[in-house]
Amino acid sequence: MPIIVNGLETAVPADTRVSLLDFVREQLGLHGSKKGCAQGACGACTMLVDGERILSCLALAVQYEGREVTTIEGLAGDGALHPLQQAFIDHDGFQCGYCTPGQICSAVGMAAEVARGVPSHVTEDVTAAEIELNHDELRERMSGNLCRCGAHNGIVDAIVEVYTGRAG
Ligand code: FES
Ligand code: FES
Repeated sequence: MPIIVNGLETAVPADTRVSLLDFVREQLGLHGSKKGCAQGACGACTMLVDGERILSCLALAVQYEGREVTTIEGLAGDGALHPLQQAFIDHDGFQCGYCTPGQICSAVGMAAEVARGVPSHVTEDVTAAEIELNHDELRERMSGNLCRCGAHNGIVDAIVEVYTGRAG
């Protein structure tokens, strides 16, 4: 069964030891997703699988046969930037840009988790039908994505603008 990456079907690698990150970067030539730590600590490799964020450095490509993988290259549609990509530009949400694809993919998956009512470590009422993406929730939920340049304020402002409607 093929794996679907950004809408295109492709065969999974014959070598079952290949990580999803290496498969996408080295075999498909999609270099947006970054390898920072390769041990699940930085979030630079974050991709979406069926809409949920995962750390692709810790995943084997063969695990995702038949699944839909979206990388930063697949977020933009028809030549237009994804709203969050534009917001990162507007709010100076990056400096070197190394963490940025992971930050954006993570935020897209994070917002979907909030919309589904998935609680986090700081959610006060885990039975609530709706969770507000407030200051603490946002920072907790994005804490797995590190930025060595310290662009976190702009990153947060961009996410706030797109997913809460509040001014970033
Ligand atoms: S490269 Fe995957 S978490 Fe750092
Ligand atoms: S923009 Fe450089 S690591 Fe985040």
